[in-house]
Amino acid sequence: MALVLEGLKRLEYRGYDSAGVAVVHDGRVDIFKAAGKIAMLEREMGSTPATSQTAIDAGVLRTALTKRGHVFRSETDTEVLVHLVEELHTQGRPLVDAVAGALRQVEGTYGIAVVSSREPETIVAARRGSPLLVAIGSGENFVASDASAVLAHTRSVVYLDEGEIAEVRPADYRIMDLAAVEKEKTITQVDWDLATVERGGFAHFMLKEIMEQPESIRNTLRGRLLEEEGTVRLGGLNITDEDLLKVQRIVITACGTSWYSGLIGEYMMEELARIPTEVEYASEFRYRNPIVDERTLVVGISQSGETADTLAALREAKRRGARTLGLVNVVGSTIAREVDGGIYLHAGPEIGVASTKAFTSQIAALAVLTLKMGRLRALSILQGREVVRALGRLPDLVAQVLAKAPQVEQLAERLQRATNVLYLGRGYNFPVALEGALKLKEISYIHAEGYPAAEMKHGPIALIDDLMPVVFIAPKDAVHQKVVSNVEEVKARGGRVIAIVTEGDAALAKLADHRIEIPETLDLLTPALSVLPLQLLAYYIAVRRGCNVDQPRNLAKSVTVE
Ligand code: G6P
Repeated sequence: MALVLEGLKRLEYRGYDSAGVAVVHDGRVDIFKAAGKIAMLEREMGSTPATSQTAIDAGVLRTALTKRGHVFRSETDTEVLVHLVEELHTQGRPLVDAVAGALRQVEGTYGIAVVSSREPETIVAARRGSPLLVAIGSGENFVASDASAVLAHTRSVVYLDEGEIAEVRPADYRIMDLAAVEKEKTITQVDWDLATVERGGFAHFMLKEIMEQPESIRNTLRGRLLEEEGTVRLGGLNITDEDLLKVQRIVITACGTSWYSGLIGEYMMEELARIPTEVEYASEFRYRNPIVDERTLVVGISQSGETADTLAALREAKRRGARTLGLVNVVGSTIAREVDGGIYLHAGPEIGVASTKAFTSQIAALAVLTLKMGRLRALSILQGREVVRALGRLPDLVAQVLAKAPQVEQLAERLQRATNVLYLGRGYNFPVALEGALKLKEISYIHAEGYPAAEMKHGPIALIDDLMPVVFIAPKDAVHQKVVSNVEEVKARGGRVIAIVTEGDAALAKLADHRIEIPETLDLLTPALSVLPLQLLAYYIAVRRGCNVDQPRNLAKSVTVE
C-alpha cells in the first residue's frame, strides 16, 4: 500500500485535486477517496491493511469518461462504466473481457484501471485519450499514468496506445485491442533516474529546475551542433532535406509557456530561415478551419507531450496533409509518438507546475530547427557558424545569470506586496514579457500582464503610477533604443522600473530603479537569458507570499482534457 501512495505522491505534481485508492483483499474491494492532497487520502485510509497485492489509483479512474449515448444508472460516467463491467463480469466473463466488452459500448476519452475481488491478482487497464503505461518489475508489475510514479521500482515500461487494453498480473501482462487481438509491444527503458524526480537539496522543484538550466540546455544541444558546417544534426526529423526544402509555410501550435516559446520560434524562423511562420493556440487552431496543406510544416511544442489541445491540433493538421513535427520533452509521450518526427528536448523531468527549464530548452531546440531550415535556404555558412557558436556558449552564460539569484531575491522583497505588475519587451523579448507575467500570475497570484513595449501606449499606460512596478526586458538588441524610449515614457508617468539589461548598459543604468544584468549574446538567444531573472523573481515572490510554488492552486502540469 505504501507503494501505491508513494506512486500517487510522485504523480501529485500533475495537479490532481483529489485522489483515491481501491484495495483488493480478503475477497473484497475497499475504496478510499479524498479531495485535496494525497496527505488527506493517507489520513482517510488510516486503518487500512498495510498489505494488499493489488491496488489501483482511483485518480486514474476519475479521468473523464465523457457521457455519450448510454443509459445512466448512476451519477457519473465512470460509475456507468463500472456497472457495465460488473454486469459482464458477474455473467462469468474474465475481468479483461468484461472491461473490453464494456468499453466497446461507450464513447469518450478515458484512462482506466479496473480491479475485481473475483480476480484479486489482476489489474485491467485501458486508454483512450489519457496517458497510461504498464511498468515491468521483477515478480511485480504496475500500471501508471506517468513513469515517475514507478521509477523507484523499475525503468522498463510499455506505453499503451489509443484503444489498447492491458491485463496485468504480478508475473505477466498481455496487451490487446478492444477486439481482443493481441499486440506486440516494445519495452522502453526510461532514462530518467530517481534523483531527477526528487528535490535533491532544493526547497522546491521549481527552484531545482531553474538552477538545472545550464545542464538541461546542454542536454538539448548535445550531439546536435556542427560548428564546421555551421548547421545541426537532427536524427529524429524523419523528413528528408529535399522535403524540408519544399516547406513553404510553418505553423507552430502549442499551449501556455510552450506557446510563448513558439512565438520566439516564429521570430527566429522568419529572420534566419525566411519561412513565413505563424503561431497558433492549439485550442483555437483545432476548431477553426485551418489552412494547411502538404507544403505546410506544423510544429507542435509540448513539454509533457500529452496536452489534449496540442495533440488534437496536430491530428487535425495531419488529417489535412501537413507534415508534423513535435518539440517534446517526455520521451514516449503521445505527441512524440504521433508526429511524423521531432526534436526531443532532453531537459529531464519537469515536476514544478510552472514550466521553466522546458522553456529554455524549447528556445534552444527552436534555434536548432531554425538553423536546419535556414542552412537549407539563404543562411550562409558564416551566419550558421555564428549561431552554432553562440548556442555552444549559452549554457555557461545561463549559469552566470543564475548566479545572480541572491540579487533577484532582494528585489522580490520589494515587489512582494504589489497587486499588479506590467511586463514589457519588444522583438525577441516580447514573448519573454508574456512568459514573465505568466510565471508571476501562476505561482504568486499577483495580477500581471505582458505587453509589447510600444503597444503599451494603446492601453496599459493608463494604469501606470508609482504603485505599479513595470518590468522591462531590455537587453542590447536590434530594438534596444526603442525600448529605452518606452522606459522614459514610463518614468515620466512616475512608474517604478525594473529592467533586465545587458551588462554595461549605461542608458538604462540611469533610468531604471532596479536592474539585473545579463551577458551579451545573439539577439535570438537573449530570451534564454532574459527569462531567467523573471523565473527567479516569480519564485522568490511566491515563496515570500507563502504560496505553494510547485503546485499552484487550480493548475495542472499537463492538461490532458480539453
Ligand atoms: C499547463 C502547464 C503549463 C504548460 C502548459 C502546456 O498549463 O501548467 O506549464 O506550459 O500546460 O503544457 P505542455 O506540456 O504542452 O508544454
